[in-house]
Amino acid sequence: MADKLDKKVRVWDLPVRLFHWTLVILLVTSYFSGRAGGDWMKLHFWSGYTILTLLLFRIAWGFVGSTTARFSHFVKGPAAWFVYLKDLLTGRRTYDVGHNPVGGIMVLVLIFAVLAQAVAGLFSADTDMGTVNGPLANSIPDKWVDRLTSFHTFWVNVIWCLVALHVLAAITYLVWKRQNLIGAMFTGRKPLEHVAEAGKPVPTLSFASGRLAISLLIAAAAIVYFCLRLG
Ligand code: HEM
Repeated sequence: MADKLDKKVRVWDLPVRLFHWTLVILLVTSYFSGRAGGDWMKLHFWSGYTILTLLLFRIAWGFVGSTTARFSHFVKGPAAWFVYLKDLLTGRRTYDVGHNPVGGIMVLVLIFAVLAQAVAGLFSADTDMGTVNGPLANSIPDKWVDRLTSFHTFWVNVIWCLVALHVLAAITYLVWKRQNLIGAMFTGRKPLEHVAEAGKPVPTLSFASGRLAISLLIAAAAIVYFCLRLG
């Protein structure tokens, strides 16, 4: 029994892990290339298109992917958030095989916050210079281009605040609860003993195929490509 509990269980599939760390790299790339401007805008645009592709993929994967990647597995209502928070504050050991109920909502918020940023970028334009227009900026009235450009400039700050909260939560888990969620996002594996300590049964997880992931990624890239051609 002890042997079994020492083992780590596979929780995150490769597509989720690749999605996560690629998104981190691309967000940083987008931020610095956007701030640098000039020739760096080419990189900014390509980074944005890739982020859009990844997000479309992740949304689809949230419906048809592996168990822990599915929205139905981690998006819970307020009742579950309160039980989770109560357990957390009363020091009861909580353990979730995938995202916890509050973390799950944060994941959804992060995905849609970054999506809003990337979509706004498509319609943004540098109105002073008139040279670095998003690919769809010419397809909407100038008034809306101005609004979406302001949103794109402002919203990135909201994203960094959300990311800071997200990273703080992961560090709190590591230091306070001694659960290494960050390592699990790299290796895909979590130790089983917390599940047993929390008195929960170890659930059976299913993992979707890599072929399905690649097909969805190609479909997502095709959708982004066709959207760009509308401009
Ligand atoms: C640009 C910044 C970041 C964004 C936009 C972001 C976004 C996300 C998203 C969307 C997920 C859900 C993954 C999925 O189900 O597909 C996630 C999970 C996770 N992220 Fe991040 N992340 C960022 C940075 C980081 C960093 C720097 C760390 C580590 C220090 C981190 C640690 C984690 C962990 C541990 C999880 C899994 C949480 C759990 O076990 O429930 N993230 N992140």
